[in-house]
Amino acid sequence: MLHVLDHPMIKHKLTTMRKIETGTKDFRQNLDEIASLMAYEITKDFPTRPVEIETPMGKCIGQELDKEVVLVPILRAGLGMVNGIQQLIPTAKVGHVGLYRDEETLEPHEYYAKFPKNIANSIVLILDPMLATGGSAKAAIDFVKKTGATQIKLVNLVGVQEGIDLVEKYHPDVDIYLAAKDEKLNEIGYIVPGLGDAGDRIFGTK
Ligand code: PRP
Ligand code: URA
Repeated sequence: MLHVLDHPMIKHKLTTMRKIETGTKDFRQNLDEIASLMAYEITKDFPTRPVEIETPMGKCIGQELDKEVVLVPILRAGLGMVNGIQQLIPTAKVGHVGLYRDEETLEPHEYYAKFPKNIANSIVLILDPMLATGGSAKAAIDFVKKTGATQIKLVNLVGVQEGIDLVEKYHPDVDIYLAAKDEKLNEIGYIVPGLGDAGDRIFGTK
């Protein structure tokens, strides 16, 4: 299912990120902050379990998260979302999937994959700012499913219908969370209006 988290603070920060004049430092900071805000919304139906604890005033039943959380950024650009989410879920473990998109064919190519041991029983959040053709997201979900994980959510900043359709076709069990659904892909596979090349803007490589 698709969830577009169009909170006013997310809209405001995303607008800053989209601006051509926003430099690397502010781009990264706003991505960090949006990732935190998105995590707050995404975690609102995470299961909790009762635990007996003792406060300075006596015993009571509190609630703790029932599942561990694993973040899986798609390298490189997904790394820009890890810090913000870990501010909310500091115990989250981090796996990595390295994929780059061939600039001619737009096909994703794998160069790295490493996951924490407990991933199969965890809630997995796959992170990538951009959901364009959806090829990278589909491939990352394929990898994560091979670990045995079944509770998987895809967290993107900006997506378009093509990417949403591809993920929903191959992985209908995976919820997709976006900060914004944009108009279209251009002829070279970039999201319009989008925000340009997320990896380059995060890491200052262009
Ligand atoms: C970008 C982006 C996604 C992918 C989206 O990564 O971060 O991973 O493209 O495109 P898709 O939906 O059409 O697959 P890129 O391949 O440019 O690598 P980078 O993160 O290393 O810059
Ligand atoms: N990858 C990006 O970084 N930006 C886009 O618009 C599409 C894919």
